[in-house]
Amino acid sequence: MKVFVYPGSFDPVTNGHMDIIERAIGICDKLIVGILINNKKESTFSVKEREDMLKSALNGRANIEVTSFSGLLVDFMKQNNVTTVIRGLRAVSDFENEFQLALLNKNQYPDMETLFMMTSSNYLYLSSSMVKELAIYKGNIDSYVPACVKEALIKKFTNI
Ligand code: PNS
Repeated sequence: MKVFVYPGSFDPVTNGHMDIIERAIGICDKLIVGILINNKKESTFSVKEREDMLKSALNGRANIEVTSFSGLLVDFMKQNNVTTVIRGLRAVSDFENEFQLALLNKNQYPDMETLFMMTSSNYLYLSSSMVKELAIYKGNIDSYVPACVKEALIKKFTNI
């Protein structure tokens, strides 16, 4: 069985992430979406909130598991017995960081392969931070996030 891991912060999940998830599940048998628990980086949503939003957006899709991990991605991969990680690539600006991450991971865990999936053109400049900024100033985010995320963003930023 071909299993891929799709790791990220997902703070919150956007339609850009959803697009990668949809296309990734088309080329593997099972996808594990791994939310990074990063105590060093302040996040807008708790890990539980991010996990709930992803699960709700995926609406019980078979063959997709949503979970969280802390520490190194390579250790999470080993624990799950998975060697393939998938990452979305947007503009060229993503490349340097992703290249470094992929090489570091390969060095730590030689069996690991990183697959890069080009973002669909409508999500080229979409990011979780951009969506949050739009939401804070009440911009239109309808086409950028799943409905449950829009609701959560409105709720989160209502009284600031
Ligand atoms: O959505 P993001 O923030 O771009 O995702 C980045 C992520 C979670 C894939 C990356 O930061 C990661 O794998 N972090 C876990 C720690 C790790 O393994 N770092 C690489 C070696 S220093």
